[in-house]
Amino acid sequence: MKIINICGARPNFMKIAPLMRAYRQHPAIEAMIVHTGQHYDEKMSDLFFRELEIPEPDINLEVGSGSHAAQTAEIMKRFEPVVIEQRPDWVVVVGDVNSTIACALVAKKLGVRVAHVEAGLRSFDRTMPEEINRLLTDAISDLLFVSERSGIENLRREGVDGDKVHFVGNVMIDTLRSNLEKAERSSILNDLGLEPLRYNVVTLHRPSNVDNADSLGRIAKFLDVAQQDLPTVFPMHPRTRNNLQKLGLADRFAAMKQLRIVEPVGYLDFLKLMGRAAVVLTDSGGIQEETTILGVWCLTLRDNTERPATITNGTNRLVGNDPAKVIAAYKECRKSPPAKTMVPEKWDGHAAERVAEVLVSG
Ligand code: UD1
Ligand code: UDP
Repeated sequence: MKIINICGARPNFMKIAPLMRAYRQHPAIEAMIVHTGQHYDEKMSDLFFRELEIPEPDINLEVGSGSHAAQTAEIMKRFEPVVIEQRPDWVVVVGDVNSTIACALVAKKLGVRVAHVEAGLRSFDRTMPEEINRLLTDAISDLLFVSERSGIENLRREGVDGDKVHFVGNVMIDTLRSNLEKAERSSILNDLGLEPLRYNVVTLHRPSNVDNADSLGRIAKFLDVAQQDLPTVFPMHPRTRNNLQKLGLADRFAAMKQLRIVEPVGYLDFLKLMGRAAVVLTDSGGIQEETTILGVWCLTLRDNTERPATITNGTNRLVGNDPAKVIAAYKECRKSPPAKTMVPEKWDGHAAERVAEVLVSG
């Protein structure tokens, strides 16, 4: 059984790492990796292959950056001949990025079965490019692997045949659990001169937050308050770095003395950073899940989330980007650590094994 596994952007790497490991338990599976090249900086891509011991991609489509249409179309054009030549039994796509929908669409139209890992998540916000990618990918997938219970209900409501849906748990948490010990050995706190629970971590990359000066201005206001309280580490996504320059806001951020803007960091360093932080402020999808398991406060700088289990069971609070609201929530978090989280169902480190079992038995 030949399976082509697609990855392209940073959060995809944490998701395919445990899948590649799980496939190795099944001699019938021949697994290939196709990297679309959506992310290409060393610190947004190659670093994760080394740290997470992911086999080198068999093929890199090297699409690079572009508008949504240009990037999605380019991935499709370059992936189509790969599918024709390789004739896989399955194409496995993960998450909700442009690489996910582009490759799913190509495979399906060539009559190749598609499996979607992390299916069923819905923010119900169709201004979010990822929501469109999720809806469309799920609509054409033959197998839908769901990470949290809300996904089952969302797919049922959309009329997806229940036989295709498998509640397997969260592959991103497989990666977290299998790397916790290694991450402990990271020297990042010493390197940055930080004390456990005496610093914050920030990540931002959603277009709704970082593509316009108004929202970046609001963000600057509350980050200023947070960084006056505690050193605040900000591993900056390239989209955000580019926009701060383009919109003339780089100096305003640089002027905040305790805001430590650094390059994106590797997974192990980032896990260690999150695990000891007082508060994590983010608009990332994956980080909402990881802080839930780590039991660290997460203020999500969005108005909605496709990952409700991180709120019902975890440490996540939706706070948007209105400075008054974020500052009030931040102060609240600083009063006491979060209550113990209830680990969401099947976030037990074995999700990828369940995916592999279903694929071989199907
Ligand atoms: C993408 C995903 C988003 C995901 C995020 C994870 C889509 C629609 N968006 O957003 O869902 O949460 O990845 O990080 O697929 N750039 C570089 N170097 C890189 C990669 C990007 O400089 O290695 C810059 C380029 O200027 C590029 C911009 O970042 O135009 C945005 O990259 P892109 O992949 O289009 O979207 P992300 O914001 O990274
Ligand atoms: N991450 C990382 N280094 C960083 C920032 C994030 O390793 O500097 C990891 C994080 O722990 C998580 C993943 O990247 O595993 C999340 O990726 P991102 O926030 O880019 O995408 P999203 O989850 O929002 O789609």
